Amino acid sequence: MAQRVKKAVFPVGGLGTRFLPATKAMPKEMLPIIDKPLIQYAVEEAQAAGIEEFIFVTGRGKSAIEDHFDQANELEKFLAARGKTKELDAIRRWLPSAGKVAYVRQPAPLGLGHAVWCARTLVGDEPFAVLLADDLVQAEEPCLGQMMTAHASTGGNLVAVMDVPRSQVDRYGVLDVLRTQGRLIAARTVVEKPSPAEAPSTLSIIGRYILQPSVFSHLSRLKQGTGGEIQLTDALALTIGEEPFHGYRFEGRRFDCGDKVGFLEATMAFAMERADMGEAAREIARQHSMPKPLSNGDDAYRPRILNA
Ligand code: UTP
Repeated sequence: MAQRVKKAVFPVGGLGTRFLPATKAMPKEMLPIIDKPLIQYAVEEAQAAGIEEFIFVTGRGKSAIEDHFDQANELEKFLAARGKTKELDAIRRWLPSAGKVAYVRQPAPLGLGHAVWCARTLVGDEPFAVLLADDLVQAEEPCLGQMMTAHASTGGNLVAVMDVPRSQVDRYGVLDVLRTQGRLIAARTVVEKPSPAEAPSTLSIIGRYILQPSVFSHLSRLKQGTGGEIQLTDALALTIGEEPFHGYRFEGRRFDCGDKVGFLEATMAFAMERADMGEAAREIARQHSMPKPLSNGDDAYRPRILNA
């Protein structure tokens, strides 16, 4: 039985350049899907999976995240005085208890591997989870919870994986598959951002990991890799052979909210699932549903103007 995972690391030190100008003065991880910031979805997923300690790796301009996970005394008093119990609950139900949240700075955005390495002292010598808030997974059982169950028997390093179109493998860490057993995939190695022609498979790592602390010593020795960044995937490749390493094909639908189209899709998908606005969201989708282009010529799709 593997050691229980109690700590989670949330790397939020990236610059979010794909969302400029929105992210000029606001962290990307605070962008909301409907009314909840991406980072809160990730923290709630970790809480549901039994995580007890929350470590944020922040950077410049990320103080809104600290404020979000702090008690808002004035706002709470204001809401309480007006009897707004629902709103009061919405700002405090999910707050981790005092002393269970820690922040460490990544001095410069040198890559995901570097961000995780910055958390080494706070993590110490125990297994830990890593959640990237811009990967949002809609699932009956939250993705990290599924992984925790699998990890209790596999131990070692476990990463969430999904098949992506071959043309997109150069955005991901990709598994060289050794064998598959149900949702678990043993890998020969992992490759960061391979070209579509050279990728060993299309099975790609998304932003959920359960890692052993041994990854830190590999990260310490790593030089900058693909894209001039210190890559977590490169350190993981070095652990294979030392520790069990598995991909976990999670159940659920993942949205890349670091990408504008992915963000839009997530907004619609989450709105449709909500009791208070599902019907309205489906109506919007219906009104905007557009006939497929018949050809590239005159019959090609022209946008329909709503209510025209
Ligand atoms: P991304 O690869 O999406 O990078 O990071 P980014 O800088 O945030 O966004 P773009 O590409 O410029 O638009 C994935 C996750 O890893 C964190 C980010 O904050 C994000 O949550 N990250 C990335 C760090 O914490 N530090 C880094 O150096 C890089």
